[in-house]
Amino acid sequence: MVDKNIRVCCGMTCGVMGAGKIMRKIEAETGLKQGEKNDKIDLAYCTCTGNCHIAPSVMVNGNFIHEAKEETIMNEIEETAKQPKQETTISDATIDEILSNDFLNDV
Ligand code: FES
Repeated sequence: MVDKNIRVCCGMTCGVMGAGKIMRKIEAETGLKQGEKNDKIDLAYCTCTGNCHIAPSVMVNGNFIHEAKEETIMNEIEETAKQPKQETTISDATIDEILSNDFLNDV
């Protein structure tokens, strides 16, 4: 079982608010790409967490980081990982699912 289950929201609002930059920062710091895991970290995108008003949203072991910032995300992940793990029903999202979602057709 991994220590940190990290999910970066890839919903429209979080995307606009910089979720991609946050994911790239986490990837650079962990050496993992989204969708990969090692014995300590499981890293992926997820669907909207319902926190669009305080985007970008990142989950660590089911606990939320709101208004995540590229500059501070790694410290926030470490702090959030100290909290008790929470169950979540929020789904993972693969890059194929993200790319196949034509948001403009939803408007
Ligand atoms: S789009 Fe990320 S919380 Fe809704």
